[in-house]
Amino acid sequence: MLLKNPQMSTTPHRPVIILGAGAAGLFCAGELGRRGVRALVLDHAAKPAEKVRISGGGRCNFTNLETAPDRFLSENPHFAKSALARYTPPDFLKLLARHGIGWHEKTLGQLFCDERSPRIIRMLLDELEAGGGELRLGVSIDDVQQTDRGYRVSTSEGELTATSVVVATGGLSIPKMGATGFAYDLARRFGHAIVEPRPALVPFVFTGAEKDAFAALAGVASPVRVHAGRAAFDEAMLFTHRGLSGPAILQASSYWREGDPLRIDLFAGVDSAADLIAAKRATPKRSLSAVLEQKAPARLVDHLLSWPSAPAGSRLGDIPDRALAGFADELSNWILKPAGTEGWRTAEVTVGGLDTRDLSSKTMESRRAPGLYFIGECVDVTGWLGGYNFQWAWASAFAAAEAIARN
Ligand code: FDA
Repeated sequence: MLLKNPQMSTTPHRPVIILGAGAAGLFCAGELGRRGVRALVLDHAAKPAEKVRISGGGRCNFTNLETAPDRFLSENPHFAKSALARYTPPDFLKLLARHGIGWHEKTLGQLFCDERSPRIIRMLLDELEAGGGELRLGVSIDDVQQTDRGYRVSTSEGELTATSVVVATGGLSIPKMGATGFAYDLARRFGHAIVEPRPALVPFVFTGAEKDAFAALAGVASPVRVHAGRAAFDEAMLFTHRGLSGPAILQASSYWREGDPLRIDLFAGVDSAADLIAAKRATPKRSLSAVLEQKAPARLVDHLLSWPSAPAGSRLGDIPDRALAGFADELSNWILKPAGTEGWRTAEVTVGGLDTRDLSSKTMESRRAPGLYFIGECVDVTGWLGGYNFQWAWASAFAAAEAIARN
């Protein structure tokens, strides 16, 4: 018989095929290998785990010591609890120790690799290899169909079959790096609901006078409290040529909805009116700008003093308490309406994705298609900035590996 694709007849049925060689997919392959299950990992990219490589400014912020379910956004805030409890930051640190990889805490529980991020990729690949796993790059996946023995995966290299398929193809952020909506399209075909994906951990853009003012301040960073919806973050804000960025802004973007205002407290929660009036009593001859420069960089203070509401008079003693308090209130409640975000081009992650109601929180298995698992960023679980997204990739991959190896 003449076979259209000779590979089809020679390729053995596999226990598991993992789609996506990113953080979640590679880690899942390693965990399966440790349990005696050999995984085949497929990815359309030329190199594995490109997002790990560029993460954390090249040093991979691989987890966060403060990992807890409330650091994650999801339509179902309980969903991530089980997986996060079963694979924790100390578990990942044990893995690093086995590979002799050094790390350090930067700030706010954020753990970074002492070496460059490729060291983490090397570790993931070593784990995959040690467990007898196989990685094939440059393979595009055309289709996944259910069969009576599991699944048939149609690829640019022919058809492959497996008892289980793990989808770890990530979210939509940074299409230039190979991100696709593959997981969402596939899940929809199996009857899953999708929580509308939105770009997150992404800078804001502004138009008109605000854009011009921020462009003039580009490069200036200041500690602030940013409120978006019910969330608030105390960290640095950075002015850019297009608008606002910096950790506080990126965090707020995950909670922001089109058309929403942002509220920025330039005093980061301090009672600014009381502060300025106390400064006036103590040092009436000092200038308002000198006092403000204790809180914010001089270039930003110059901008703030150009606001129409800025009090006239340069010495604190010449400014009535009421005017000082009014100005302080404005500085603590700076309302800004972004025109939008920089979108998928620069978003670090995707908020939304596979609706968790269709997945088991214990195993990440589809409730609609037994043997089909979804892990990592494609699921509607999104971490804050600071290593939480990798922790979710490890924890969700661990949950799926445990379940597949048990079956
Ligand atoms: P990930 O996106 O890593 O992998 C998906 C894989 O699937 C890719 O290799 C892709 O090529 C492949 N794929 C997609 N579609 C496919 C298709 N149709 N066919 C075949 N293959 C396909 N997080 C954190 O915790 N700490 C940090 O320091 C950072 N830093 C950071 C910086 C930047 C610039 C970005 C963009 C992101 C971060 N993140 C981060 C987020 C983190 O990188 C992200 O959450 C994880 O990489 C998600 O892991 P996944 O394995 O789920 O997807």
